[in-house]
Amino acid sequence: MNLTNEMNRVMGDAFEKVGYDRALSRVIVSSRPDLCEYQCNGAMGAAKAYHKAPIEIANAVVASLNEVMAENDKNAVFSSAEAIMPGFINLNVSEAFLRHFARQMATSERFGAELPEPKKILIDYGGPNVAKPLHIGHLRSAIIGESIKQMLKFAGNEVIGDTHLGDWGLQIGLIIEEFKRRNPELCYFNPDFKGKFPEEAPFTISELEEIYPAASARAKEDEEFAACAHENTLKLQSGDPVCHELWKKIIEVSVADLKKNYAKLNVSFDLWKAESDAQPFIPELLKILADKKLSYLSNGATVVDVQEETDKHEVPPCLIIKSDGASLYATTDLATIIDRMNYFNPDEIIYITDKRQDMHFVQVFRVAKKAGLVREDTELFHIGYGTMNGKDGKPFKTRAGGVMRLEALISEVDDAVRDKMKERYEEDEVNEETVHKVGLSAIKYGDLSNQAAKDYIFDIDRFASFEGNTGPYILYMIVRIKSILQKAGNVSRNTDALLDLPDGDANLKLLLRKLSNFSEMISTAVEELAPHKICSYCFELCDAFSSFYHDTPILKETDEKVKNAYFSLLFLLQEVLETCISLLGFDAPEKM
Ligand code: ARG
Repeated sequence: MNLTNEMNRVMGDAFEKVGYDRALSRVIVSSRPDLCEYQCNGAMGAAKAYHKAPIEIANAVVASLNEVMAENDKNAVFSSAEAIMPGFINLNVSEAFLRHFARQMATSERFGAELPEPKKILIDYGGPNVAKPLHIGHLRSAIIGESIKQMLKFAGNEVIGDTHLGDWGLQIGLIIEEFKRRNPELCYFNPDFKGKFPEEAPFTISELEEIYPAASARAKEDEEFAACAHENTLKLQSGDPVCHELWKKIIEVSVADLKKNYAKLNVSFDLWKAESDAQPFIPELLKILADKKLSYLSNGATVVDVQEETDKHEVPPCLIIKSDGASLYATTDLATIIDRMNYFNPDEIIYITDKRQDMHFVQVFRVAKKAGLVREDTELFHIGYGTMNGKDGKPFKTRAGGVMRLEALISEVDDAVRDKMKERYEEDEVNEETVHKVGLSAIKYGDLSNQAAKDYIFDIDRFASFEGNTGPYILYMIVRIKSILQKAGNVSRNTDALLDLPDGDANLKLLLRKLSNFSEMISTAVEELAPHKICSYCFELCDAFSSFYHDTPILKETDEKVKNAYFSLLFLLQEVLETCISLLGFDAPEKM
């Protein structure tokens, strides 16, 4: 059930009834809200097609609409229709219709949203790398990915979220080398050691996080060190027991830490598959590419051409194996596709990474299609997001200019929220659970309210504000609604009572109109994988509620029927808003 569809149906019938093609009859939101709520410019198009004056057509359509309204004023969608020179049709929606619509929303699954056939979808997001601290470079992937996963689930799809952990490659060789030089006495490095390796990891996460940058810096200056690190990487890949053991410990320690951090962000994955899991599929990949005569040698490297005639820019060949025999990022991604198709056979795979990886995914998707690694109808999407910048317009850094760790960022935002809450409430009313919930809404809404592909400025002060288009503002409104319902005492959810909402209140009407956009909003948001549409909807709805509530003392209403109608509306608003924020990946506190 979708408001625009309903209006289009009625308008289409009117066009058809007076002899014009219904396809010309689209209803849109009015560009002159001072004159009317909706409008239809279809008479202009019809005038050309039927060689008539537009106003003549508009008059005929309006006469037919008026007949419907007179016959059936209870169920009519429009309350007024007027033809305006040179041939516009100005429309207002009927309040009775909006009340019925609201009741239908309240009694339907997913508030009556019309959503496409469910699919099997795998979503690859997060993408952290082991032994490197989870920093804000990966924050957007986690936030956007989690929201899209929730949206797709809400729409009825079968969705699997996979982290695609970066656990393979030189970073591991580097860590092992540095660790070995620091701790040569450990059993791992004693060639005569025959016993069982200890259960406990020989390093903590903080040690690992310090070791990696140290090793990486050292390799840049020390050739011998770099060669040993490279050697370790090859040894790991060929199954050397010591390298394998240390690698397993690195993963164990890192994954425990990552899970802790993701939990703070309200992000969780169904699968913790890793780049290493794809390695066994590389021989199969190489064989397919060779058998289909797609791969060839170019200066000793194995590549696949992916340029297409319609390309406006050069798309370089996809590098599969380097001349020294090493596999690459693309190789792992292609092998992972084989694994995913075997395991889950999805209809769609969605990847969420920094947009600087755009070309990588163009290449990978083309090879996957050409080589038939996926079904012909399997859709492969990449959502490339922009950079999160500081107020100076440069990639966000700590005050000292370093890479911001996620934990540090969360605590900075929590501090800002706590300060703002202390300005508003008594000290003892500010509790940490609420602070963290509000803080999370600030971070996530601040991110998701922008189109993913755009860069945005991470402005803690603005994001943590309780006013304006922010997460805390939305939460504040939800809590407001909850508290009115609590104060009201024993009110129960009665959807029929929505029909008793009064006529003639402009704020209320606008609120109902905004509310009724849910179905359209969510189907576009899901189709376009665009959480920012949910943010705008929440903001407009909260604003409309705020104006309504400002002018309507709900708890003081003396007409019991009307009062109960208001309560029913509050229940519905609360449900819709809480659903929306759950799709954005956060939730509301009980009080704030
Ligand atoms: N670990 C990668 C990075 O840090 C992101 C992985 C994204 N997923 C993928 N299938 N390539 O950039």
